[in-house]
Amino acid sequence: MKNEYIPYPAIIEAIQTESFDTRTLKVRFKDKRLRDSFDYKPGQFVEISVLGAGEAPISITSSPSRKGFLEFTVRAVGKVTKAIHKLKVGDTVYLRGPYGNSFPFEEAKNRNLLFVAGGIGLPPLRSVINMAFDNRDDFGNIKILYGAKAPDELCFKEELKIWQGIPQAEVLLTVDKPANGWKGNIGVVTTLWKKTEISPKDAIAYVCGPPIMIKFVLQKLLESGFKPDNIYVSLERYMKCGIGKCGHCNIGDKFACIDGPVFSFGQIKELPDKEREI
Ligand SMILES: Cc1cc2nc3c(=O)[nH]c(=O)nc-3n(C[C@H](O)[C@H](O)[C@H](O)COP(=O)(O)OP(=O)(O)OC[C@H]3O[C@@H](n4cnc5c(N)ncnc54)[C@H](O)[C@@H]3O)c2cc1C
Ligand code: FES
Repeated sequence: MKNEYIPYPAIIEAIQTESFDTRTLKVRFKDKRLRDSFDYKPGQFVEISVLGAGEAPISITSSPSRKGFLEFTVRAVGKVTKAIHKLKVGDTVYLRGPYGNSFPFEEAKNRNLLFVAGGIGLPPLRSVINMAFDNRDDFGNIKILYGAKAPDELCFKEELKIWQGIPQAEVLLTVDKPANGWKGNIGVVTTLWKKTEISPKDAIAYVCGPPIMIKFVLQKLLESGFKPDNIYVSLERYMKCGIGKCGHCNIGDKFACIDGPVFSFGQIKELPDKEREI
């Protein structure tokens, strides 16, 4: 019988520094069969483990439309994530998954896409953003609103410039504290509403970031006329098993690891604020 807790080794092929505490790892499974067969959807996560440190749930930031490798953006906050940051190109990490549900993709075809991200909330959205860009003709306008504390803390700085050059795509950046030479907006991500037209017409919104940011973005989206069922958020909870067995990650009567991490606002809006945590 297959043991669901056994992880598979993957070699780190490249490491990109995003900011002082955040890195993106590009990895490839050692087993070629797994490399070819590993199938995932945008918004899903894996449990990454480092020998001697433990394991942590991390979103897959690469796009399923780009085959053969996986990418993860990891902020060093504690035991496992700091151990991941000590690894070098050529080292091995262990992965099990993919787990969780995904952002709507097929259902979003022919519609306009609005992405709103804060800080390390962009990595999970990047998977669906690049999948949409790889299928550009299937979608209308693609708008990305992204905020971070400071310019240095924006993830994927080079890729943001590439996205800015894609037809019918708009990328608006904002930071709380500007640095010399900063030309983007200053303020929290909702201040970008003044800089562009946000229309709910034929649109789906995808939101990921710190809970307080999600709370204010949801308010703005509802004020702008978005229906709760057209707003999708990815929520973080403490997780252990990742597969619906340990009960660590509940949100109301749901488990974030199997019913989420992606929820439409329609699904969770009736929950009390303290259970929703947004
Ligand atoms: C579905 C999902 C996807 C995630 N995707 C990413 C990702 O793409 N990149 C990334 O960097 N992180 C991501 N995280 C968060 C990541 O899992 C935690 O930061 C990690 O588990 C911390 O483990 P640690 O051993 O390094 O820290 P610990 O030593 O366990 O804790 C260090 C500190 O972080 C806090 N902390 C730990 N886990 C969480 C959590 N889940 N939420 C809030 N605070 C926490 C603790 O309270 C403590 O203050 C995701 C979490 C979930 C549930
Ligand atoms: S992490 Fe164990 S039930 Fe969700």
